[in-house]
Amino acid sequence: MKPDYLAERQGNPVTWSRNSCLPPLKHRLALVGFGTVAQGLCQILYSRRADLLKEHAFDFDIVAVTSPSRGSMYDPEGLSLSKLVELGTSRAPFTDHLQTWDSEAVIRNSNATIVIELTPTDLKTAEPALTYCQAAFESGKHIITGNKGPAALNYQNTKSLAEQSGLAFLNEATVLSGTPVISLFQQSLAGIRIHGIRGILNGTTNFILSEMESGARYEQALETAENRGYLEADKTADIEGFDAQAKLVILANILMDIPLRLQDVQRSGISSITSAKIQAAKQADKRWKLVASLTMDGDQVLASVQPEQLPLSDPLSHIMDTGNALTFSTDLLGDVTISGPGAGSIETGYSILSDLLTINRGNSV
Ligand SMILES: NC(=O)c1ccc[n+]([C@@H]2O[C@H](COP(=O)([O-])OP(=O)(O)OC[C@H]3O[C@@H](n4cnc5c(N)ncnc54)[C@H](OP(=O)(O)O)[C@@H]3O)[C@@H](O)[C@H]2O)c1
Repeated sequence: MKPDYLAERQGNPVTWSRNSCLPPLKHRLALVGFGTVAQGLCQILYSRRADLLKEHAFDFDIVAVTSPSRGSMYDPEGLSLSKLVELGTSRAPFTDHLQTWDSEAVIRNSNATIVIELTPTDLKTAEPALTYCQAAFESGKHIITGNKGPAALNYQNTKSLAEQSGLAFLNEATVLSGTPVISLFQQSLAGIRIHGIRGILNGTTNFILSEMESGARYEQALETAENRGYLEADKTADIEGFDAQAKLVILANILMDIPLRLQDVQRSGISSITSAKIQAAKQADKRWKLVASLTMDGDQVLASVQPEQLPLSDPLSHIMDTGNALTFSTDLLGDVTISGPGAGSIETGYSILSDLLTINRGNSV
């Protein structure tokens, strides 16, 4: 059942009512990857279509969808959004508007104006996402991606490729999913300087530590996390801190213009945290958390991801279960903290919508 806030409004006529005589630009979207996030995005776009047009002058068609196991669909006039929502609930191969192009060919040859890249993250090669970004920029298309690979391994180059063509390369989904972090600093807090970052960037490890505090052993907590689908295909990405490491690198590159690399971040995960350590911390009114932090010592950047025992007076100690939170030390506002979901189909789908609206406002590059 869909949550209330996604109650369908398809019955409403799609009208454009801003004080403008010009109709809004119609964006043509290509979804590369049709998994959890792409399907969440389709649900949001389906249920909010009329409101997005009326309130944000955002008009769109989804012209292409690709999935290696299901095929590629392409209709230059736009695919049916209600059909895409339906297709999200099955694993059946696509049958309508079939195209023999693979994902890269769809990016290069379709009439899409924005490519939404939602393939699995690979933190060793950043592929296939890097190739897809390049193909999009070479064929004059904006990129919105939830994939951490390009921004964690090759942000500066990819961004400058986009800029050379006057195109957007947007990554809101990569850190804290739909909880605004990147757009918060690029839009609402534009002009401020960040000189430190500290936070909980991985919901799965936070969930495991929360379960252990409630009495579960590490293996039990890991199994519960796995059963609930919280773990990445490669468990070590979460447990050993690689995911949080990549997110810290992304924040440093995008928000602080520091060309930090994965290897610059000291990293250790939570596999060494035993039930005994959790209980000892509890007795001392403390909590173990996997903390990602970046501080500046003059020009030197000190970045790490490691388990820390936090006193209960530390706001991060109160982030439980799959929650994420980030405190930014800023020059003009002091500490600014934001917390919220870091994963989920609708939550991350929303981050893609937020990037779409950024492009629609024309302030993305
Ligand atoms: N899920 C979240 O909550 C979340 C939050 C933040 C960021 N992200 C990031 O967002 C991205 C998408 O996540 P997701 O959860 O939607 O992943 P997912 O459910 O695993 O879906 C991935 C999709 O990519 C397709 N794919 C795999 N290899 C491909 C290739 N070489 N070329 C084209 N498509 C390919 C898969 O095809 P098949 O249909 O054939 O399997 C599938 O449709 C990932 O990079 C993830 O790290 C996810």
